[in-house]
Amino acid sequence: MNTSKQVNAMIGLLFLVSLFFAWNVLIEPDRQATAIEEQTELFAERGAEIFVQNCRSCHGMEGLGPEEGAIGAKLNTPAFLILGEENAFGVDATAEGVADGIRNFLGDSIACGRTNTVMPLWSEQFGGSLTDQQIDYLVTLITEGRWDLVVEIGEYEDSHQDPPATREDIIVTDASTLAPTSENCGQYNGITARPFRERDPFAAAPTPPDPGDTPEPGETPDNGGSEEPIVQGMPVGDYYLAACSTCHGADRAGITGLGLPLTPDALTEADDFYIDTIVNGREGTVMAAYGGGAELTPEEVQDLVTWLKNNEP
Ligand code: HEC
Ligand code: HEC
Repeated sequence: MNTSKQVNAMIGLLFLVSLFFAWNVLIEPDRQATAIEEQTELFAERGAEIFVQNCRSCHGMEGLGPEEGAIGAKLNTPAFLILGEENAFGVDATAEGVADGIRNFLGDSIACGRTNTVMPLWSEQFGGSLTDQQIDYLVTLITEGRWDLVVEIGEYEDSHQDPPATREDIIVTDASTLAPTSENCGQYNGITARPFRERDPFAAAPTPPDPGDTPEPGETPDNGGSEEPIVQGMPVGDYYLAACSTCHGADRAGITGLGLPLTPDALTEADDFYIDTIVNGREGTVMAAYGGGAELTPEEVQDLVTWLKNNEP
């Protein structure tokens, strides 16, 4: 090759190299977005694998909890979704602060479990079996709502068992072999979980409450003119769901091995018998004491008993 040909070849090569770099600069933002998407997908997939192994027994084959006859909370719910800029629902992205709150709520609940419920503590740091990274994968699964992966991986794994595992083998309906979590590292319970469970990600930005609506201390909050008495600042039925349903069932039919039925038919004793149970708990069982100023006032306990005895679920 003579010199001028070499120079031409070099120029050609340089041109190609600069073209390549220019192209890269142009597609970089796209590439970053794709990389984040791929990572999220991978995290959700790993979360689904862990969920299939550890969580379906209580939260159900699709994470629907009580809606599919399982004893754990419903996790497959829009309430826990964190939505990105361009989401399938065409609504605003979840605000960063809200998203952090949801991640913290889910991560804390998984890491620490829930006192007085059968939700176990999972964090390795506190004696459980999952690493922080694995808990992160689970949180991604739930906030992305990738229950399709849970179903897909679950069906694959179940069909490869010998004999193949069925729903009946997997879902726990009798809780007598389970021990409720007695102490945990977490900050949430059924009541503090409510705002997260009730969140509507599709609603327009909430209007700030009118300060005139805030009840004075000691004043009974407005219950919208309904007949339901207020317990701990909420209608008694909501309080029941938040504080009692984890053992007595959302439908009050009881959960075998956890809590007795609390329907009008089942509650045949005098009020005082049940009031005593709620105020003082039952020794030797997981039924805790809610009276003595711990949580409920005497009036609230009476309201609960009256409501349980007179209202069909
Ligand atoms: C032995 C049964 C059981 C198993 C296994 C279990 N959970 Fe739970 N979980 C529960 C129950 C019961 C609750 C509801 C507690 C309550 O009423 O506050 C719950 C609550 C939760 C919550 C909080 C949701 C809310 O609305 O309060 C999350 C998140 C959660 N579980 C995730 C998981 C994950 C992830 C796994 C698997 C690693 C798992 N759970 C395994 C029983 C279980
Ligand atoms: C951690 C699980 C758990 C939670 C949470 C729980 N209970 Fe119980 N509850 C039980 C168990 C277990 C018994 C039965 C004790 C026994 O075997 O005598 C019981 C018994 C009762 C009884 C007596 C029923 C009867 O027929 O004797 C009442 C009433 C009752 N609970 C009300 C409540 C109310 C109201 C709440 C919420 C404020 C609540 N419980 C929360 C586990 C629970």
